[in-house]
Amino acid sequence: MSWMSKTVLVTGGAGFIGSHLCERLVSEGHNVICLDNLYTGSKENILQLLENPRFEFYRHDITFPLYVEVDQIYNLACPASPIHYQHDPVQTTKTSVHGAINVLGLAKRLKAPVLQASTSEVYGDPEVHPQVESYWGNVNPIGSRSCYDEGKRCAETLFFDYHRQHGLQIKVARIFNTYGPNMHPNDGRVVSNFIMQALQNKPITIYGQGEQTRSFCYVDDLVRGLVTLMDTSADVTGPINLGNPSEITIRELAETVIDITGSRSKLVGKPLPADDPRRRRPDIGAAQRVLGWKPEVPLKKGLTKTAKYFEELLKQPEERAS
Ligand SMILES: NC(=O)c1ccc[n+]([C@@H]2O[C@H](COP(=O)([O-])OP(=O)(O)OC[C@H]3O[C@@H](n4cnc5c(N)ncnc54)[C@H](O)[C@@H]3O)[C@@H](O)[C@H]2O)c1
Repeated sequence: MSWMSKTVLVTGGAGFIGSHLCERLVSEGHNVICLDNLYTGSKENILQLLENPRFEFYRHDITFPLYVEVDQIYNLACPASPIHYQHDPVQTTKTSVHGAINVLGLAKRLKAPVLQASTSEVYGDPEVHPQVESYWGNVNPIGSRSCYDEGKRCAETLFFDYHRQHGLQIKVARIFNTYGPNMHPNDGRVVSNFIMQALQNKPITIYGQGEQTRSFCYVDDLVRGLVTLMDTSADVTGPINLGNPSEITIRELAETVIDITGSRSKLVGKPLPADDPRRRRPDIGAAQRVLGWKPEVPLKKGLTKTAKYFEELLKQPEERAS
Protein backbone atom coordinates (compact mmCIF):
# COMPACT_ATOMS: atom_id res chain seq x y z
CA MET A 1 0.00 0.00 0.00
CA SER A 2 2.73 2.50 1.00
CA TRP A 3 4.05 2.89 -2.57
CA MET A 4 0.60 4.12 -3.58
CA SER A 5 0.08 6.33 -0.58
CA LYS A 6 0.09 10.08 -1.16
CA THR A 7 0.29 13.13 1.02
CA VAL A 8 -2.92 15.04 0.59
CA LEU A 9 -3.87 18.54 1.75
CA VAL A 10 -7.55 19.04 2.61
CA THR A 11 -8.44 22.68 3.30
CA GLY A 12 -11.63 22.98 5.34
CA GLY A 13 -10.87 19.47 6.58
CA ALA A 14 -12.50 19.96 9.98
CA GLY A 15 -15.82 20.90 8.40
CA PHE A 16 -18.74 18.68 7.55
CA ILE A 17 -17.67 17.32 4.13
CA GLY A 18 -13.93 17.82 4.79
CA SER A 19 -13.97 15.59 7.88
CA HIS A 20 -15.53 12.71 5.90
CA LEU A 21 -13.02 13.24 3.10
CA CYS A 22 -10.07 13.17 5.58
CA GLU A 23 -11.49 10.00 7.11
CA ARG A 24 -11.76 8.31 3.73
CA LEU A 25 -8.27 9.35 2.57
CA VAL A 26 -6.65 8.16 5.80
CA SER A 27 -8.56 4.87 5.60
CA GLU A 28 -7.17 4.39 2.09
CA GLY A 29 -3.63 4.67 3.47
CA HIS A 30 -2.86 8.27 2.53
CA ASN A 31 -1.20 10.88 4.74
CA VAL A 32 -3.54 13.79 5.27
CA ILE A 33 -2.81 17.37 6.23
CA CYS A 34 -6.07 18.90 7.37
CA LEU A 35 -6.00 22.69 7.28
CA ASP A 36 -8.78 24.64 8.93
CA ASN A 37 -9.27 27.88 10.88
CA LEU A 38 -12.23 26.29 12.72
CA TYR A 39 -14.55 29.11 11.64
CA THR A 40 -17.46 26.71 11.09
CA GLY A 41 -15.63 23.42 11.47
CA SER A 42 -14.77 21.72 14.70
CA LYS A 43 -12.09 19.51 16.19
CA GLU A 44 -14.91 17.19 17.28
CA ASN A 45 -15.40 16.29 13.62
CA ILE A 46 -11.83 14.99 13.37
CA LEU A 47 -11.41 13.75 16.94
CA GLN A 48 -11.02 10.11 15.91
CA LEU A 49 -8.26 11.11 13.43
CA LEU A 50 -6.14 13.30 15.71
CA GLU A 51 -4.28 10.34 17.22
CA ASN A 52 -3.63 8.76 13.82
CA PRO A 53 0.02 9.15 12.69
CA ARG A 54 -1.16 9.58 9.08
CA PHE A 55 -3.16 12.64 10.06
CA GLU A 56 -1.99 16.17 10.87
CA PHE A 57 -4.12 19.17 11.78
CA TYR A 58 -3.00 22.73 10.90
CA ARG A 59 -4.96 25.64 12.32
CA HIS A 60 -4.51 28.17 9.53
CA ASP A 61 -6.58 30.71 7.61
CA ILE A 62 -6.47 29.94 3.90
CA THR A 63 -6.60 33.65 3.02
CA PHE A 64 -2.90 33.63 4.01
CA PRO A 65 -0.32 31.71 1.95
CA LEU A 66 0.86 28.34 3.15
CA TYR A 67 3.94 26.26 2.48
CA VAL A 68 3.60 22.49 2.70
CA GLU A 69 4.79 19.60 0.56
CA VAL A 70 1.90 17.51 -0.74
CA ASP A 71 0.93 15.41 -3.77
CA GLN A 72 -2.72 16.47 -4.05
CA ILE A 73 -4.88 19.33 -2.81
CA TYR A 74 -8.61 19.41 -2.09
CA ASN A 75 -9.82 22.97 -1.49
CA LEU A 76 -12.95 22.88 0.66
CA ALA A 77 -12.31 25.81 3.00
CA CYS A 78 -15.31 28.13 2.93
CA PRO A 79 -18.37 28.49 5.14
CA ALA A 80 -21.21 26.84 3.22
CA SER A 81 -24.45 27.70 4.96
CA PRO A 82 -26.11 31.12 4.42
CA ILE A 83 -26.12 31.94 8.17
CA HIS A 84 -22.38 31.38 8.35
CA TYR A 85 -21.29 32.88 5.02
CA GLN A 86 -23.46 35.98 5.51
CA HIS A 87 -22.12 36.55 9.03
CA ASP A 88 -18.90 38.05 7.62
CA PRO A 89 -19.48 38.39 3.88
CA VAL A 90 -16.17 40.14 3.18
CA GLN A 91 -14.28 37.28 4.80
CA THR A 92 -16.40 34.81 2.79
CA THR A 93 -15.35 36.37 -0.51
CA LYS A 94 -11.75 36.56 0.70
CA THR A 95 -11.83 32.89 1.68
CA SER A 96 -13.06 31.86 -1.77
CA VAL A 97 -10.89 34.22 -3.81
CA HIS A 98 -7.67 34.65 -1.79
CA GLY A 99 -8.03 31.02 -0.68
CA ALA A 100 -8.17 29.89 -4.32
CA ILE A 101 -5.14 32.04 -5.20
CA ASN A 102 -3.19 30.55 -2.29
CA VAL A 103 -3.97 26.90 -3.06
CA LEU A 104 -3.41 27.45 -6.77
CA GLY A 105 -0.04 29.07 -6.06
CA LEU A 106 0.88 26.09 -3.91
CA ALA A 107 -0.33 23.61 -6.55
CA LYS A 108 1.69 25.46 -9.21
CA ARG A 109 4.89 25.25 -7.15
CA LEU A 110 4.32 21.57 -6.36
CA LYS A 111 2.89 20.62 -9.79
CA ALA A 112 0.13 18.92 -7.81
CA PRO A 113 -3.45 18.36 -8.94
CA VAL A 114 -5.90 20.59 -7.13
CA LEU A 115 -9.64 20.09 -6.68
CA GLN A 116 -12.03 22.93 -6.00
CA ALA A 117 -15.22 22.37 -4.01
CA SER A 118 -17.45 24.64 -6.05
CA THR A 119 -21.19 24.75 -5.67
CA SER A 120 -24.55 24.57 -7.39
CA GLU A 121 -24.93 28.18 -6.17
CA VAL A 122 -22.87 29.23 -9.20
CA TYR A 123 -26.12 28.61 -11.14
CA GLY A 124 -27.97 31.12 -8.88
CA ASP A 125 -31.74 31.01 -9.38
CA PRO A 126 -31.55 28.83 -12.47
CA GLU A 127 -33.59 29.34 -15.63
CA VAL A 128 -32.41 25.97 -16.93
CA HIS A 129 -33.64 22.85 -15.22
CA PRO A 130 -32.07 20.48 -14.35
CA GLN A 131 -28.77 22.36 -14.24
CA VAL A 132 -26.14 21.25 -16.73
CA GLU A 133 -22.50 22.29 -16.48
CA SER A 134 -22.77 24.30 -19.72
CA TYR A 135 -25.39 26.62 -18.13
CA TRP A 136 -23.78 29.91 -17.05
CA GLY A 137 -26.22 30.68 -14.28
CA ASN A 138 -28.48 33.46 -13.10
CA VAL A 139 -26.70 35.10 -10.17
CA ASN A 140 -27.42 38.41 -8.48
CA PRO A 141 -23.98 40.06 -8.14
CA ILE A 142 -25.02 42.46 -5.35
CA GLY A 143 -27.36 40.45 -3.13
CA SER A 144 -26.79 39.04 0.32
CA ARG A 145 -25.85 35.62 -1.09
CA SER A 146 -23.39 37.10 -3.61
CA CYS A 147 -20.37 36.89 -1.29
CA TYR A 148 -20.69 33.13 -1.56
CA ASP A 149 -22.04 32.71 -5.11
CA GLU A 150 -19.74 35.23 -6.77
CA GLY A 151 -16.80 34.22 -4.58
CA LYS A 152 -17.20 30.64 -5.80
CA ARG A 153 -17.65 31.80 -9.41
CA CYS A 154 -14.46 33.84 -9.21
CA ALA A 155 -12.65 30.84 -7.69
CA GLU A 156 -13.72 28.76 -10.70
CA THR A 157 -12.39 31.50 -13.00
CA LEU A 158 -9.05 31.44 -11.18
CA PHE A 159 -8.86 27.66 -11.42
CA PHE A 160 -9.44 27.73 -15.18
CA ASP A 161 -7.01 30.63 -15.71
CA TYR A 162 -4.27 28.81 -13.78
CA HIS A 163 -5.03 25.77 -15.93
CA ARG A 164 -4.86 27.71 -19.22
CA GLN A 165 -2.00 30.00 -18.23
CA HIS A 166 0.18 27.67 -16.16
CA GLY A 167 -0.94 24.19 -17.26
CA LEU A 168 -2.14 23.30 -13.76
CA GLN A 169 -4.04 20.04 -13.26
CA ILE A 170 -7.39 21.26 -11.95
CA LYS A 171 -10.61 19.50 -11.02
CA VAL A 172 -13.72 21.58 -10.37
CA ALA A 173 -16.66 19.85 -8.66
CA ARG A 174 -19.99 21.67 -8.48
CA ILE A 175 -21.47 20.25 -5.31
CA PHE A 176 -25.23 20.24 -4.79
CA ASN A 177 -26.96 20.02 -1.37
CA THR A 178 -25.17 17.42 0.70
CA TYR A 179 -26.15 16.16 4.14
CA GLY A 180 -24.99 13.69 6.75
CA PRO A 181 -23.34 13.32 10.15
CA ASN A 182 -20.98 16.17 11.20
CA MET A 183 -23.25 18.83 9.74
CA HIS A 184 -23.43 21.80 12.07
CA PRO A 185 -26.67 21.37 14.05
CA ASN A 186 -27.63 25.05 13.87
CA ASP A 187 -26.41 26.16 10.49
CA GLY A 188 -29.89 26.96 9.22
CA ARG A 189 -29.61 24.41 6.42
CA VAL A 190 -32.84 22.65 5.70
CA VAL A 191 -31.83 19.09 6.62
CA SER A 192 -30.19 20.00 9.93
CA ASN A 193 -33.03 22.43 10.75
CA PHE A 194 -35.76 19.91 10.13
CA ILE A 195 -34.04 17.06 11.98
CA MET A 196 -33.16 19.20 15.00
CA GLN A 197 -36.71 20.59 15.14
CA ALA A 198 -38.24 17.13 14.73
CA LEU A 199 -36.05 15.53 17.40
CA GLN A 200 -37.14 18.21 19.86
CA ASN A 201 -40.80 18.05 18.75
CA LYS A 202 -40.59 21.75 17.85
CA PRO A 203 -42.55 23.28 14.95
CA ILE A 204 -40.86 22.60 11.59
CA THR A 205 -40.31 25.85 9.70
CA ILE A 206 -41.11 25.86 6.01
CA TYR A 207 -40.31 28.91 3.90
CA GLY A 208 -43.07 29.96 1.49
CA GLN A 209 -45.43 27.11 0.63
CA GLY A 210 -42.65 24.52 0.78
CA GLU A 211 -43.15 23.86 -2.94
CA GLN A 212 -39.55 24.82 -3.80
CA THR A 213 -37.56 21.72 -4.68
CA ARG A 214 -34.12 20.53 -3.67
CA SER A 215 -32.14 17.36 -4.16
CA PHE A 216 -30.07 15.90 -1.35
CA CYS A 217 -26.91 13.84 -1.65
CA TYR A 218 -25.61 11.75 1.24
CA VAL A 219 -22.07 12.72 2.23
CA ASP A 220 -20.50 9.27 1.57
CA ASP A 221 -21.73 9.41 -2.03
CA LEU A 222 -20.36 12.92 -2.45
CA VAL A 223 -16.94 12.06 -1.01
CA ARG A 224 -16.72 9.05 -3.35
CA GLY A 225 -17.42 11.45 -6.22
CA LEU A 226 -14.70 13.89 -5.10
CA VAL A 227 -12.07 11.15 -4.76
CA THR A 228 -13.04 9.65 -8.13
CA LEU A 229 -12.76 13.07 -9.76
CA MET A 230 -9.34 13.71 -8.22
CA ASP A 231 -8.09 10.39 -9.59
CA THR A 232 -9.07 11.12 -13.21
CA SER A 233 -6.49 11.80 -15.92
CA ALA A 234 -5.12 15.31 -16.40
CA ASP A 235 -7.50 16.13 -19.28
CA VAL A 236 -10.52 15.93 -16.94
CA THR A 237 -10.97 19.38 -15.43
CA GLY A 238 -14.73 19.64 -14.92
CA PRO A 239 -16.70 21.59 -13.97
CA ILE A 240 -18.67 18.54 -13.06
CA ASN A 241 -21.91 18.37 -11.09
CA LEU A 242 -21.97 16.09 -8.06
CA GLY A 243 -25.31 15.71 -6.39
CA ASN A 244 -28.39 13.62 -6.18
CA PRO A 245 -30.81 14.08 -9.08
CA SER A 246 -33.89 12.88 -7.20
CA GLU A 247 -35.80 16.06 -6.54
CA ILE A 248 -38.27 16.52 -3.71
CA THR A 249 -40.20 19.47 -2.37
CA ILE A 250 -39.24 20.96 0.96
CA ARG A 251 -42.67 19.99 2.28
CA GLU A 252 -42.05 16.34 1.35
CA LEU A 253 -38.66 16.48 3.04
CA ALA A 254 -40.25 17.80 6.25
CA GLU A 255 -42.83 15.01 6.17
CA THR A 256 -40.13 12.37 5.65
CA VAL A 257 -38.11 13.72 8.59
CA ILE A 258 -41.19 13.63 10.82
CA ASP A 259 -41.81 10.07 9.69
CA ILE A 260 -38.29 8.71 10.37
CA THR A 261 -37.89 10.46 13.72
CA GLY A 262 -41.43 9.61 14.90
CA SER A 263 -41.77 13.28 15.82
CA ARG A 264 -44.90 15.12 17.00
CA SER A 265 -43.74 18.31 15.22
CA LYS A 266 -46.19 20.33 13.08
CA LEU A 267 -45.28 22.30 9.95
CA VAL A 268 -45.35 26.13 10.17
CA GLY A 269 -44.87 28.63 7.30
CA LYS A 270 -42.45 31.62 7.13
CA PRO A 271 -41.78 34.15 4.32
CA LEU A 272 -39.28 33.10 1.63
CA PRO A 273 -35.78 34.60 2.11
CA ALA A 274 -34.25 36.84 -0.62
CA ASP A 275 -32.78 35.14 -3.71
CA ASP A 276 -33.93 31.70 -2.56
CA PRO A 277 -33.75 29.44 -5.64
CA ARG A 278 -37.12 27.87 -6.58
CA ARG A 279 -35.73 24.70 -8.06
CA ARG A 280 -32.43 22.92 -7.79
CA ARG A 281 -31.54 19.59 -9.33
CA PRO A 282 -28.27 18.50 -10.88
CA ASP A 283 -27.92 16.95 -14.27
CA ILE A 284 -25.32 14.30 -13.43
CA GLY A 285 -24.93 12.96 -16.96
CA ALA A 286 -21.31 14.15 -17.08
CA ALA A 287 -20.46 12.57 -13.71
CA GLN A 288 -21.97 9.29 -14.89
CA ARG A 289 -20.14 9.37 -18.23
CA VAL A 290 -16.76 10.66 -17.07
CA LEU A 291 -16.52 9.24 -13.55
CA GLY A 292 -18.97 6.34 -13.67
CA TRP A 293 -20.45 7.99 -10.56
CA LYS A 294 -23.98 8.25 -9.26
CA PRO A 295 -25.39 8.49 -5.74
CA GLU A 296 -26.33 5.21 -4.10
CA VAL A 297 -27.63 6.03 -0.62
CA PRO A 298 -31.44 6.40 -0.56
CA LEU A 299 -32.74 9.57 1.13
CA LYS A 300 -34.53 7.75 3.96
CA LYS A 301 -31.41 5.75 4.83
CA GLY A 302 -29.18 8.84 4.79
CA LEU A 303 -31.65 10.87 6.84
CA THR A 304 -31.90 8.09 9.42
CA LYS A 305 -28.08 8.05 9.85
CA THR A 306 -28.03 11.83 10.10
CA ALA A 307 -30.87 11.87 12.64
CA LYS A 308 -28.92 9.36 14.76
CA TYR A 309 -25.92 11.69 14.75
CA PHE A 310 -28.00 14.68 15.85
CA GLU A 311 -29.74 12.57 18.48
CA GLU A 312 -26.33 11.76 20.02
CA LEU A 313 -25.37 15.42 19.81
CA LEU A 314 -28.47 16.46 21.73
CA LYS A 315 -27.46 14.13 24.57
CA GLN A 316 -24.08 15.91 24.89
CA PRO A 317 -23.27 19.06 26.87
CA GLU A 318 -24.99 22.15 25.51
CA GLU A 319 -22.12 23.89 23.70
CA ARG A 320 -21.82 21.10 21.10
CA ALA A 321 -25.48 21.13 20.12
CA SER A 322 -25.76 24.92 19.97
N1 LIG B 1 -22.59 21.01 2.19
C1 LIG B 1 -23.08 21.31 1.02
O1 LIG B 1 -24.24 21.01 0.75
C2 LIG B 1 -22.23 22.01 -0.02
C3 LIG B 1 -22.81 22.31 -1.25
C4 LIG B 1 -22.04 22.96 -2.20
C5 LIG B 1 -20.73 23.25 -1.97
N2 LIG B 1 -20.18 22.95 -0.77
C6 LIG B 1 -18.78 23.33 -0.57
O2 LIG B 1 -18.07 22.30 0.07
C7 LIG B 1 -17.12 22.86 0.99
C8 LIG B 1 -17.33 22.25 2.37
O3 LIG B 1 -18.64 22.57 2.80
P1 LIG B 1 -19.23 22.04 4.19
O4 LIG B 1 -20.67 21.82 3.99
O5 LIG B 1 -18.38 20.97 4.70
O6 LIG B 1 -19.09 23.36 5.06
P2 LIG B 1 -18.43 23.58 6.50
O7 LIG B 1 -18.73 24.97 6.89
O8 LIG B 1 -18.83 22.49 7.42
O9 LIG B 1 -16.89 23.39 6.16
C9 LIG B 1 -16.07 24.43 5.71
C10 LIG B 1 -14.79 24.38 6.49
O10 LIG B 1 -13.92 25.42 6.03
C11 LIG B 1 -13.34 26.05 7.18
N3 LIG B 1 -12.99 27.44 6.79
C12 LIG B 1 -13.83 28.47 6.52
N4 LIG B 1 -13.12 29.56 6.22
C13 LIG B 1 -11.81 29.21 6.29
C14 LIG B 1 -10.59 29.91 6.10
N5 LIG B 1 -10.57 31.21 5.75
N6 LIG B 1 -9.42 29.22 6.27
C15 LIG B 1 -9.42 27.93 6.62
N7 LIG B 1 -10.55 27.22 6.83
C16 LIG B 1 -11.73 27.86 6.66
C17 LIG B 1 -14.41 25.99 8.25
O11 LIG B 1 -13.91 26.16 9.55
C18 LIG B 1 -15.00 24.61 8.00
O12 LIG B 1 -14.32 23.61 8.73
C19 LIG B 1 -17.30 24.36 0.95
O13 LIG B 1 -16.33 24.92 0.11
C20 LIG B 1 -18.67 24.53 0.36
O14 LIG B 1 -18.78 25.73 -0.35
C21 LIG B 1 -20.90 22.34 0.22
